[in-house]
Amino acid sequence: MTIQFNELTKEFHLYNRQISYILKILKNNQLGHLYFGKKVRERDSYDYLVESHHRPMTSYPYEGDMYFSLEHLKQEYPAYGTSDFRHPAVEIRQNNGSRITNFEYKDHTIYKGKPKLQGLPAVYTEHEDEATTLEITLVDDLIHVEITLLYTIFENENAIARSARIQNNGAESVDLLAAMSMNLDLPDYDYEWLQLSGAWSRERHIKMRKLEQGIQSIESTRGHSSHQHNPFMLLKRPNADEFSGEVLGFSFVYSGNFLAQAEVDPHGQTRVLMGINPFGFTWHLEQNEQFQTPETVIVYSDQGINGMSQTYHRLYRTRLARGEWRDQVRPVLNNNWEATYFDFDEDKIVNIAKAAKEDGIELFVLDDGWFGTRNDDKQGLGDWFANTDKLPNGITGLAERIENLGMKFGLWFEPEMVNKNSDLFREHPDWIIQTPHRRSSHGRNQFVLDYSRKEVIDCIYEMMAAILRTAKISYIKWDMNRSITEVYSESIPPERQGEIFHRYILGVYDLYERLTSTFPHILFESCASGGGRFDPGMLYYAPQTWASDNSDAIERLKIQYGTSLVYPISSIGAHVSSVPNEQVFRTTPLETRANVAYFGAFGYELDLNKLSQAEREQVKNQIAFIKQYRELIHKGTFYRLLSPFEHNFTAWMVVSEDKREAIVGYYKILNEANGPYRRLKLQGLNEAFIYHTEELAASYGGDELMNIGLITTDAYSGQNIENDAHEHCADFSSRIFILKAAQ
Ligand code: DGJ
Repeated sequence: MTIQFNELTKEFHLYNRQISYILKILKNNQLGHLYFGKKVRERDSYDYLVESHHRPMTSYPYEGDMYFSLEHLKQEYPAYGTSDFRHPAVEIRQNNGSRITNFEYKDHTIYKGKPKLQGLPAVYTEHEDEATTLEITLVDDLIHVEITLLYTIFENENAIARSARIQNNGAESVDLLAAMSMNLDLPDYDYEWLQLSGAWSRERHIKMRKLEQGIQSIESTRGHSSHQHNPFMLLKRPNADEFSGEVLGFSFVYSGNFLAQAEVDPHGQTRVLMGINPFGFTWHLEQNEQFQTPETVIVYSDQGINGMSQTYHRLYRTRLARGEWRDQVRPVLNNNWEATYFDFDEDKIVNIAKAAKEDGIELFVLDDGWFGTRNDDKQGLGDWFANTDKLPNGITGLAERIENLGMKFGLWFEPEMVNKNSDLFREHPDWIIQTPHRRSSHGRNQFVLDYSRKEVIDCIYEMMAAILRTAKISYIKWDMNRSITEVYSESIPPERQGEIFHRYILGVYDLYERLTSTFPHILFESCASGGGRFDPGMLYYAPQTWASDNSDAIERLKIQYGTSLVYPISSIGAHVSSVPNEQVFRTTPLETRANVAYFGAFGYELDLNKLSQAEREQVKNQIAFIKQYRELIHKGTFYRLLSPFEHNFTAWMVVSEDKREAIVGYYKILNEANGPYRRLKLQGLNEAFIYHTEELAASYGGDELMNIGLITTDAYSGQNIENDAHEHCADFSSRIFILKAAQ
């Protein structure tokens, strides 16, 4: 891995064994983009890639020159209005009202490792040799504003991390109207765009469309990354699939409003922009003030979508997630939310926990309803002290009882919210985000605390820390159950009101940082009404996220499949819940509910006392199973085999690093009458190994399993059968195949 600068041609070439990224200082001293993709040879000059032809209706910055136009050039961090008409990466309003800028190359540095981003989550290195960073500083000499573009290339990953830092050295203030984290101008538009979108309870479904002239984009305007659109998109060549072909992935390490956009211009070039959503955003920069954008991680894969996912999985599991829990297997947990909702007391909780312990569960999590006067969702948020009507011995007493059972204890918080019916609100009615003299909308009867204010965060921190210091708490579920409306903060002047959404998220990160550094042994799970903030920003603080409030196994196939495009399996909170399912009223077999949830951070969301003895035995076996295989599932290489968005079947598998062990999950949605013969081609095995699978009581070569496939026919469908194979022939049935290589 290296970053080279050619003094003569003014070209930068960032490369490792797999990828090249090439850029150039153009003749107008601005930064041009030349190439991003599979590694190419080093040559004296890549100048032949600078293309700008004379075309009617083009504007040219230099009189007498009818060729050089920014409209036609591929650029690194473009501005609008000086012959380029596409959407810009940066837009700055100056005191005279002008938004025209001209950022030219000033200098650059290249160094080993990767810098931290002040107050922001970012991918990191543990050793300097893992990555090299290029910082290029551009300057606008008229207004004395500098932009530093940061590029980090990794030694062993097909990934480049990008962000920008903007510094006002001028005497006058300026306003940033757009400050994207990256811009990538591609030479053509022969791509399909893929996004992960949906809604509450239906998060991260795969949606795809062909790029066409014009703009396609996804965004959040809700103050959190959102259920509606995940801050991720990819561009794939039309012939690319899961395992072959070119894919470019774009993932935004941020939890607030974002924009991901591809603009295809009239000459077939594609401009990709990703960053904080310029809609609703401005940032005021006084003299000597600086703004750091969040980071985007772009990944190149020539091995299809799965190749891209594996890069994100490795990077995010080992170099984005942090802390004591990063590399540890996650405890099997039992959460009481769907078991009790708000209706519990200490004995009821202990009773559920006892059954959990009997079956092998390691962590008991007390969800919403334990604090203030929280007996329903109209009250209590903000009062982070125990409701002693329900819990006479407080959280300390309950935690003690759970620990005495031989389990760890975890607790739910929703630190960013307040109900009007709470002591906190009565004391500080001005602490919520609200616009003066306007109605304040609520969501789930709650209001959003103004996390752009330090005194608000200090107060919440103190309340939470008081509990964490006294009670034995090993896990926190940090929830967030509404989007932000009437955005405004009383603490800052009018010209800074466009900063609130971003300042809010910086406040959230600040509280996370304080809590995770003061209580490093606690495992954090982030949550936002399920998966409303399942993003890389959160993973930096909380190594797992409750993927969705929808715990139905069949719905979860799509949710977990989509989530796995970017996020490691160890980060996907997945629980077995009771049937009929609480969200879609579907009844699925207990076996399938577990077979789906195994491919995540596994747990139960029910009262085990309510299961039959036979079901309890099944649960015990499931827990024993996941304890045996969770290390492999969380750290192995994940392959998606059959998509629930395309088939009546879903399949995926995990292979251990040494390829000696693999686990395949195979799921059927609806049963078929007299269905076809079926084979499932596996991936990632060693061709030469012989794998034994007890489920089929047979052994096959890795070459056979990958080229011929595993036989998964269920020939019994639609006929009377006398053996027990029918359990795999029902709607919503599933199978797990364990493959072990012979020694
Ligand atoms: C939404 C979460 O996603 C649920 O798991 C649960 O914690 C509820 N909030 C509690 O209010």
